[in-house]
Amino acid sequence: VKLQGKHVVVVGGSSGIGLAVAQTASAEGARVTIASRSETRLSAAAASIGGAVATVALDVTDVDAVERFFASIELIDHLVCAVRDSEAGLRDQYIAPLVDIDPRAGLIYLKSKFWGQLLVTKYGCARMARTGSITLTSGIASRGWVPGHTVIGPVNCAVEGFVKKAARELGPIRVNAVSPGLTDTPTYDPLPVDVKRALFAEYAERSPLGRTGTPEDIALGYLFLMTATFVTGTVLDVDGGFQVAASVERQEGRIIPAGDPSSRS
Ligand SMILES: NC(=O)c1ccc[n+]([C@@H]2O[C@H](COP(=O)([O-])OP(=O)(O)OC[C@H]3O[C@@H](n4cnc5c(N)ncnc54)[C@H](OP(=O)(O)O)[C@@H]3O)[C@@H](O)[C@H]2O)c1
Repeated sequence: VKLQGKHVVVVGGSSGIGLAVAQTASAEGARVTIASRSETRLSAAAASIGGAVATVALDVTDVDAVERFFASIELIDHLVCAVRDSEAGLRDQYIAPLVDIDPRAGLIYLKSKFWGQLLVTKYGCARMARTGSITLTSGIASRGWVPGHTVIGPVNCAVEGFVKKAARELGPIRVNAVSPGLTDTPTYDPLPVDVKRALFAEYAERSPLGRTGTPEDIALGYLFLMTATFVTGTVLDVDGGFQVAASVERQEGRIIPAGDPSSRS
């Protein structure tokens, strides 16, 4: 009911977590605009959302394109950004021991995940309702999890730091971030099946809920932050309680030291 008739814009809304946010917001009565690069994926996503949905092709790393996108959009009630550039690759490209990281892949990740979200906030805030919200996306890598996060971890920390600065500057528009735990999305499609299975099994085993997340689980965090009218400058962990498990493991000395080559998956 709180989203009935509201305009919700989801950048990165054609896949995974962003798509689930768009679907959930639409089911709650919002008018939804989704934006990402591939028009084909946007069309497929729009069909799966149903209801009132507009699609716009947008690359968040293109400053002029982001400025143009927001210059021409109607007033936004809630703006969500959940991008991750698949061109950046995954394991052994930017999630790897520092010495093995492909710097080009790391930079692609940085440009979309941090700089892209900053640009979306910078140009999007001028089109926001004063009572509106901006919700960005961090990730569990900001607190460390498995070794190999010397790029992805600090980039997510930067997103979390940015949220706190932007919340102060942009109030009364609220600015928050969701930090998802391991979530089954197309992000992991490029991984060999056995590697993905082992990764997900390890997370599930160490999580109090005994499972990894679904995009729909994570979407509920964004919905909460859209509608929580007294919450700003906050990072909401939606990770199945993984932080709790990790702190217990740390106390018990069961956390694998980062950089231990025998621990690489
Ligand atoms: N899945 C997880 O386990 C997990 C865990 C922690 C954090 N996260 C974070 O959650 C967010 C969503 O991840 P996901 O797993 O849902 O990823 P996903 O399924 O790969 O979706 C990524 C979305 O971002 C769009 N995108 C990528 N680069 C873009 C760019 N330069 N400009 C505009 N749109 C762009 C993609 O569409 P196009 O490629 O067509 O542009 C797609 O819509 C990311 O920030 C990710 O880091 C995910």
